[in-house]
Amino acid sequence: MSLLDCGNGAGMRIGLFDSGVGGLSVLRRLSGLRAAEFVYLADTARCPYGDRAPEEIISFAGQVVGWLRSQAVHAIIMACNTSAATAGPIVRGCAGLPVHDLIEPAARYLSGLSKKVAVLATASTVRSRAFSQAVARHNPSARVVEIACPELVPLIERGELRTAASKDALWRYVKDLEGEQVGAVVLGCTHYPFLSELLAGLLPAPVELVDPAEHLWRSFWGEAGDCAAGAMIDHEPTVFDRTKFFVTGSTDSFAQVAALCLGCKPFLVEHVAVEELAVAKPVEPVVREAIVSDVVSSVVTALQP
Ligand code: DGL
Repeated sequence: MSLLDCGNGAGMRIGLFDSGVGGLSVLRRLSGLRAAEFVYLADTARCPYGDRAPEEIISFAGQVVGWLRSQAVHAIIMACNTSAATAGPIVRGCAGLPVHDLIEPAARYLSGLSKKVAVLATASTVRSRAFSQAVARHNPSARVVEIACPELVPLIERGELRTAASKDALWRYVKDLEGEQVGAVVLGCTHYPFLSELLAGLLPAPVELVDPAEHLWRSFWGEAGDCAAGAMIDHEPTVFDRTKFFVTGSTDSFAQVAALCLGCKPFLVEHVAVEELAVAKPVEPVVREAIVSDVVSSVVTALQP
């Protein structure tokens, strides 16, 4: 089934997940999707994912996707590039429903740029080289550098969107870009758009900031094909009013930081224990099997630092 409901507007249920508030930067782009409802899971008890071993990320992503399936979603968006970079192909092969992520839509766009591109991302995403390899598949001569920014997610999860600590950390990651003649900077972790104001102030004016979520949305728009544009535009309440939020950690702190990120009042968040994810069926056992298969073991070994 297509992610888009182009018919009479009868809704779909779409699941999104991230380790924390990052996926909200993806969710906010989706208000034009005429879905009945979204289910957002933030695995905050185990955030950040970005410094973890590939096996762990694969296992967590499998559990989360299994849990989202138990919520009867029709499609899943991996609103976590770390999961998509490390576990995307495995999860897609096991999920039994459409699984979308941000890397391919962004790569298609980046491959058409004539300028050098820097992807800011988590250590794990950088290690996977998922962005540069995806871009190279479209354009082998594209110039892409990937920069690990491990300090940023913990700062954002603390709600430090405009603090000196966040500005200093960002500066350490981008200060050399001008000398390297980078023309576009990609927010390669879904948390980072919440620092885009600070980042824009640190980059020289001609540098383009690219949010992959925008290109995911554009790819959905393209997927709609001959759907009347009117069917895509939802004039109903915001996407957040149509979303059920679940977190594995503290509901209060997620609600507060989410409100800061989105500039809205804190919304209702429910708790789901990590143990409940671990028993969710049926993706996780399949992923567990996949992890021990030869093919995946070799991928995992290749991804080791
Ligand atoms: N927001 C996620 C990403 O896009 C996860 C970050 C993390 O947990 O380290 O990579």
